[in-house]
This record gives sequence, structure tokens and C-alpha cells, in this order.
Amino acid sequence: LRIAVLASGRGSNLQAILDAIAHGTLPARVVGVFSDRPAAAALERARAAGVPAWAASPREHPTRIAFDRALFDAVDAARPDLVVCAGYMRLLGEAVVTPRAGRLINIHPSLLPAFKGLHTHRQALAAGVSEHGASVHFVTAELDGGPVIAQARVPVLPGDDEAALAARVLAREHPLLIQTLNWIAAGRVRFHDRTVYVDGAPL
Ligand code: GRF
Repeated sequence: LRIAVLASGRGSNLQAILDAIAHGTLPARVVGVFSDRPAAAALERARAAGVPAWAASPREHPTRIAFDRALFDAVDAARPDLVVCAGYMRLLGEAVVTPRAGRLINIHPSLLPAFKGLHTHRQALAAGVSEHGASVHFVTAELDGGPVIAQARVPVLPGDDEAALAARVLAREHPLLIQTLNWIAAGRVRFHDRTVYVDGAPL
């Protein structure tokens, strides 16, 4: 599986992918890492692993559509089978999302459809839920709205603050993402007519 990773920041999910490949637990190759923030630590992680890293600043492009097009010109040149948004903090426009339906996934730190958008751990604490987690989903033009492929759940514990809850979720994000990528690499996941199928059964 040829994977392109889009990342805006720290890149711990990217690192989980690179580590799984290095340890032989994910039959894949990261063909490029792409960022909307030239200073993203994710780019350093890519270079350290010998993976091509690309970045551009949205400010240098007149519109979101123009930035998306420049980004995906670079992504497409790496010929990925799958594009993974792993902490990519910018909304992707319909023009690049729609033609890639079923080949573009995102990891989001909440149990979707709960807590879309930013500050999901703060949202979860404010709502007083007892369970929180992370979701991997196919990307559609609706922010964090595409169909879920897999989720990981964690308890919300008494005394949790945003940082404690975020750390508990992040520890589960990495194995969740690797498991989902393994399913995809094995051809077990299909996206058709807004429905996700795993091993032929609709989710
Ligand atoms: C993760 O919590 C991811 O779910 C969210 O942004 C964070 C990125 O972390 N979309 P990292 O850059 O992978 O360390």
C-alpha cells in the first residue's frame, strides 16, 4: 500500500505509521509527507525516515482551491493508493475530496459523530460524557462528517483535564490507525454509496 500522509504539526500518528512499517507490522510504504505548515515537526520525522517531505504555505496561494490544487499536484506525483490525514488541520475542499472518495481517510480525536471540529477533548469534558475516544473515517466534503471505519474508546475519569484526556486518547489513536491501515492494505475495507464495508459487511 502506497500511503501519502498529510500532517500539520507534531506528527505522532505519522511516526506510528513509520514505526509500524519499520517493524514489519504494516505492509506499506510512505511515499510522501505533505504539510500546510513548513515548520511542522512531521516534516522532520519524514526526513529522518528517508521519506520525501513537501510543504507550502496557504498564504502564498490566492484561494483555498488554489492551495488544495498545489497540495494535491504534489500528492498525486507520489502516486499514493491512499491519502491519510494525520493531524492535518485544514479543511479540504470538495474539488479534491470528491474525486478521491474511498482513497482519503482522516483520524479524528473523538467518537464521531460526537465532537466534530477543534478542541474535542475540551468539548467532551464540557459535555460530561463518560466515554471518549478516536475515529478513523473516510473524508467527505463535510468536516469530520465522512463515514467511520473504526473507533477506539477510552473512559473519561474523575479529575481528568484536557491534557490527561488527550494523552489517553492519543495512546489509542496510534494502534487504531495502524489496525485500520492494515485492514485497508489487506483489501478488507470498501466505501460504496456512502457506506463502509469491512469484510463485505456494512458497518
Ligand atoms: C491527533 O489527535 C489527531 O487525531 C488530530 O490531531 C492530532 C494530531 O497529532 N486530528 P499528531 O500530529 O499525529 O501527533
